[in-house]
Amino acid sequence: MADYFKDKAENWDAGDVRKSTPLAIAEAIKERFVLDKEMSIMDFGVGTGLLGFEIAKDVKKVFGVDMSPSMLAKLKEKNSPELSIEAVEQDIVKKPLADIFDGIVSSMTLHHVEDLEVFFKSIYKNIKEDGFLAIADLEKEDGTFHSDNTGVYHFGFNKDELCEIVKKCGFKDVSFDSIATINKPQRDFGVFLLSAKK
Ligand SMILES: C[S@@+](CC[C@H](N)C(=O)[O-])C[C@H]1O[C@@H](n2cnc3c(N)ncnc32)[C@H](O)[C@@H]1O
Repeated sequence: MADYFKDKAENWDAGDVRKSTPLAIAEAIKERFVLDKEMSIMDFGVGTGLLGFEIAKDVKKVFGVDMSPSMLAKLKEKNSPELSIEAVEQDIVKKPLADIFDGIVSSMTLHHVEDLEVFFKSIYKNIKEDGFLAIADLEKEDGTFHSDNTGVYHFGFNKDELCEIVKKCGFKDVSFDSIATINKPQRDFGVFLLSAKK
């Protein structure tokens, strides 16, 4: 399996923007959903854990799912006895997990998922009744966000189209809010949080 993040993993956490966006996402998630120390949460596309560790502070366990061994290696270096994430190396688009979580969070990974309907139907099964979904990614963009669009299936997302798909897959209380902006030399890119309940 190709590891598109092999060359990026080493310096993933280096930029301020890399760190500030997941922090804004974590804050927005905590404003919308009450996290507690009984909860098991999946972070889809956990990467080096920039979002996952923020969530891990408030829950029992975060399972960090990622198909990139190099990103998970960086994550594991950051684990400590006080704060850790359980790394799960798996492409859950190709091979879904059977486990059930109190909620699923994700930062900047949805644009790597080709068939959104198949994906949302699949992760619906991984959430307990009344559990939650909180997925952040780029608002619709012009394809200039990434310098290399290998493995990028969506140039951001349109609010109405994405909400429609998520509702069709069974989720309720679906909302899509702009929560952050990533400033790049070429332009600014909006970041949304899609939140929903099972
Ligand atoms: C842009 S990075 C984001 C990492 C992290 N969430 C963050 O905000 O810093 C996307 C991550 O999703 C992972 N990923 C993409 N598609 C995946 C899939 N189908 N299953 C598991 N992980 C996936 C990639 O390997 C990569 O680590």
